[in-house]
Amino acid sequence: MRIFLDTADINEIREAARWGILSGVTTNPTLMMKSRGASHEAVIKEIATIVDGPISAETVSLDTAGMVEEGRRFARWHPNVVVKVPSTPNGWAAVKQLKTEGIRTNVTLCFSANQALFAALAGAYIISPFVGRLDDISEDGMQVVRDTVEIYRQHGLETLVLAASIRHPLHIIDAAKAGADIATVPFKVLELAARHPLTDKGIENFLKDWEKFKAEQH
Ligand code: E4P
Repeated sequence: MRIFLDTADINEIREAARWGILSGVTTNPTLMMKSRGASHEAVIKEIATIVDGPISAETVSLDTAGMVEEGRRFARWHPNVVVKVPSTPNGWAAVKQLKTEGIRTNVTLCFSANQALFAALAGAYIISPFVGRLDDISEDGMQVVRDTVEIYRQHGLETLVLAASIRHPLHIIDAAKAGADIATVPFKVLELAARHPLTDKGIENFLKDWEKFKAEQH
C-alpha cells in the first residue's frame, strides 16, 4: 500500500517527502483554504516539484461540463495531476469524458461500495472511500474499503482504492490489511504513526552504552 499525504501545506509535504515514504498528495477545497495565499495552480505546481507521483486537485463545479472544463485546465498544470470529482452521476459522467481525453480522475466523497462500483465502471483512476466521516456517524467506514477491494478484485476492475478521511494510525494499518492500494494521511496522523517510545528509548540507551564502550577503549 502506498502512502499519500492529505494536505496542501508545502512544509508538511517537504517533510514527509524527506522521510522517503511519500508517493503522492491529495488536496481538497478545505485543505486549500488552510494553505492560504497562493493560487490553486501555484500550490499544485509547487507540490509537483516536491513529489513525483499523483497529485489530486479537486473540482468545484456541480455539472459535468464544468467538471470537465476544470479537469482539462488542471491537467495542463502538470502531467501528475489527477482530477477530483464527486461521487455523483455528474461526476461519473465527467470521469468517462476525461478518460477519453487521457485525463486521470480521483472520485471523491465516496461513502458506499455501490458508488465505488459506479466510479470504476465510468473509468476512474482512483476511488476514495471516506473512512473517518462514516465512523463519525457510527458506521464502519473501513467496511466500505473492504467491500470495494473485494468487488474490484472479483470483477477485475483496475481502479485504485484509496482509503481517505484517515483519522488515526490504526486506520493506516486497517486500510493496508483491507487491501487498499493507497491511504491518504494527514501529516499529524503520519507523525503519530511514525513514532514509538521504545524506538526513542532504545536509541538513547544504545548511545549511552556506546559512550561507555568508547571510554573503555585504549
Ligand atoms: C481525500 O482525498 C480527502 O480530501 C480527505 O481524506 C478528507 O478527509 P476529512 O474527512 O478528514 O476531511
